Amino acid sequence: MPRILIVYSTRAGSTAHVANLLSNQFRTLGHDVGVASASADPAPNGEDLFVVGSGILASHWNKEALDWLREHQRQLAGRVALFNVCLTAQDPARRDEALEFNAEACGIVAPLASQTFAGKFKPEKVGFAQRLLLRAMRQKPQDHIDPAAIVGWARDLADAHL
Ligand SMILES: Cc1cc2nc3c(=O)[nH]c(=O)nc-3n(C[C@H](O)[C@H](O)[C@H](O)COP(=O)(O)O)c2cc1C
Repeated sequence: MPRILIVYSTRAGSTAHVANLLSNQFRTLGHDVGVASASADPAPNGEDLFVVGSGILASHWNKEALDWLREHQRQLAGRVALFNVCLTAQDPARRDEALEFNAEACGIVAPLASQTFAGKFKPEKVGFAQRLLLRAMRQKPQDHIDPAAIVGWARDLADAHL
């Protein structure tokens, strides 16, 4: 049975939510799936596919997700897919911009696939300074999580790479 490790980094929960939707779909397809936060520094163990994602803050992946990719670069080679979760991705006309947030991560591991998903902003889930920043960016509370898009990507990855 193919084994998959999903590693995510989140500040306000959206990327953890996406990671769980991905893992549920991989399990439905009959795969053996582990899910872990990058902060826990999970050890790769010969999985067939690694799916690694981060929320986006100020156009960048979270540091611990990039550190995890760097640390385990060799074990991931040829077997990793990347995704980010951000607000830019909710506008289809800005998809390229949202995918570009993956550039630094793609430079570390040369992924099989690079994806972006629309996230959410819940003011009560972020700190005071971040709330002010989002207000300055004219962002209102919003939730664009699209389970069908997320589940569809899990299916595509499984079809193409497992
Ligand atoms: C301080 C802050 C900065 C953000 N910067 C960006 C950004 O530059 N581009 C973007 O598309 N979304 C940005 N967002 C939106 C987040 O990417 C979005 O809320 C995402 O769902 C967060 O994922 P997480 O909950 O897993 O941390 C920002 C959010 C916060 C709180």
